[in-house]
Amino acid sequence: MAETAKVTSQQSSDDPAGDTAGDAAGDTADGRRPAPRRSAVRSLLRLWPFVRPVRTRLFTAAFVAIVASCIGLVIPLVLKWLVDGPIADRDPAGAWLGGGYLLLLGLAEAGLFGLRRWLVARPLASVEAALRDSLYRHIQRLPVAFHDRWASGQLLSRGTTDLQLLRLFLAFPLTFLLVNATTIVVGCVILLVQRWSLGLVLLAPIVPLIALCSVFEARYAVAARRAQDQVGDVTTVVEESVLGIRIIKGFGRHRSQARAFRALTARLRTTELRKARLLATLWAFINALPELAIGAALVLGTVQVADGDLSAGTLVAFLSTALALMWPVESIGFLLAMSNDAAAATDRYFEVLDAPVADRDDAPAAPGSRPAAPVTEKAGLAFHDVTFRYPDAPAGAPPTLRGIDLHIRPGETLALVGATGSGKTTLTALVPRLYDATGGRITLDGTDITALTRDELRARVAVAFEEPTLFSATVAENILMGGADAGPDDLVRALRVAQAEGFVDALPDGRDTEVGEQGLSLSGGQRQRLALARAVVGRPRFLVLDDPLSALDVHTEALVEAALRQVLATTTALVVAHRPSTVLLADRVALLSGGRIAALGTHHELLRENAEYAALMSGAADGGSAVRREGKSVR
Ligand SMILES: Nc1ncnc2c1ncn2[C@@H]1O[C@H](COP(=O)(O)OP(=O)(O)OP(=O)(O)O)[C@@H](O)[C@H]1O
Ligand SMILES: [Mg+2]
Repeated sequence: MAETAKVTSQQSSDDPAGDTAGDAAGDTADGRRPAPRRSAVRSLLRLWPFVRPVRTRLFTAAFVAIVASCIGLVIPLVLKWLVDGPIADRDPAGAWLGGGYLLLLGLAEAGLFGLRRWLVARPLASVEAALRDSLYRHIQRLPVAFHDRWASGQLLSRGTTDLQLLRLFLAFPLTFLLVNATTIVVGCVILLVQRWSLGLVLLAPIVPLIALCSVFEARYAVAARRAQDQVGDVTTVVEESVLGIRIIKGFGRHRSQARAFRALTARLRTTELRKARLLATLWAFINALPELAIGAALVLGTVQVADGDLSAGTLVAFLSTALALMWPVESIGFLLAMSNDAAAATDRYFEVLDAPVADRDDAPAAPGSRPAAPVTEKAGLAFHDVTFRYPDAPAGAPPTLRGIDLHIRPGETLALVGATGSGKTTLTALVPRLYDATGGRITLDGTDITALTRDELRARVAVAFEEPTLFSATVAENILMGGADAGPDDLVRALRVAQAEGFVDALPDGRDTEVGEQGLSLSGGQRQRLALARAVVGRPRFLVLDDPLSALDVHTEALVEAALRQVLATTTALVVAHRPSTVLLADRVALLSGGRIAALGTHHELLRENAEYAALMSGAADGGSAVRREGKSVR
């Protein structure tokens, strides 16, 4: 897999100055398909289906917050009454009463804000869980070709950092942009009613502030997107370093790995600093302009009070209303910033969720998705003129497989032999539909595999790959994954076929031993045998094995082969083989060369008649590459 083709933020974030606000705005994560830049609101609206189930609570919470915030605006009016009434009249009872009102209002405000928090906490946690759940399920269903293209860290970061940003957005900006806007409007009306001339002085900064916010929004959105893509890159490096720790240590690469990591974090830091600078600039203006306006209003108001045009109480009320509005105004800066972070996170989230999955596990393939297949009577596994090219193969490159015609009869075992890179793994991956053939058809007992649901297909075909992957689960769980209805007896049988009973029983907890991440606590041959056991546990009708015995010593290999022979006798199997001993398990052999089936026959026929096959089987340790070098001349 060409690393460069992976989706990283490389291309969209290499802008060293980080100052070109508009240009990179539309880059998607792979930087190759510039998408039209969506407004933050349009992006965020896509969250609605997830928010819908909890809308009542969210709206109630927003309403409660608006009421609480407006109560805050009543406090200055009580102050005005207090100053102009009881205080001016030197009436202690009235002053106490006023103080009592203020206390009650303050308590009500605090209580309502507390209620809001309580109202949103649970629904927001469920929205986040739903978002995460959808992402995970979708990632599982996306085709292998998608995963070939996307760096794992980009997916991981979407499921973690980005979802956190979304939850923060739902918890604060979503409510408070509304609450603060309402508060500001109500507050402005109160100010204008108190004294419209002073009110106008206070409102003067609004127009420049709005202009400033929109410039800020455009620039910040770019930086936010870039930062989140870079978090994805950092995650990828961390993940690769952890998974590849043996290689890194084995080759003493920790310094260069650390350097690569530092370079990425430095990029991320630059982007984060740019975000901080933008926010600081905005905040400076958002703070300074209203303060100036309040200062001007204070001077004007004091003069008016001195002239007797204005009551002291009105000035107090006016100024305390203005001060009460300071926080709603100031907070708009970071609420906008958080909203933009969330919009970028939403875009990133839906980039994955919008990627098309092949078809539902239990749904038959869409009718007409393929040309109607002529009914064939061929039982067994058959390839009809199958062509395949990887989706991300360079244009003009020849297809990996061309015109493959193969028929494996029921109960027959066919060995697939070819030089490394000849496409054996690719061919086997087409049968369980990890990739779909780009041309031609593959049939199981005459049924086109695209006409089967994924569940049906999986029930018939079992696979073991070159790289035996195990999960963090017990040995038994790892094996039983291979068959939906497999029980304890099947487990025993599978372990026996794979010659794994001995070492499994010797594990601390036997079959219930947890094998660590990727089964790294086991040896390569042990892992391979467990993968083989998983392939045979469900008694599949069709078995596809990609070089399943490569990591075994000659003795164990012979034992596994003997046991496998019995399994192969009852299934139809396609087995990729490198060694003559594995080939001998098969009834016939197909030689894959240059993307085609170059020869077909029994092992001995091919050995006699085909020079390339003879060279491959000659036992030279480096047979594969020798043939690749000389392939042309040998044929
Ligand atoms: N995901 C992929 N995307 C693009 N090209 C790929 C992908 N996987 C494999 N290839 C290319 O397809 C060709 C066939 O690869 P394949 O893995 O099928 O070879 P193979 O016969 O199994 O080799 P080996 O004996 O080494 O396992 C190679 O040239 C490889 O570079
Ligand atoms: Mg292979």
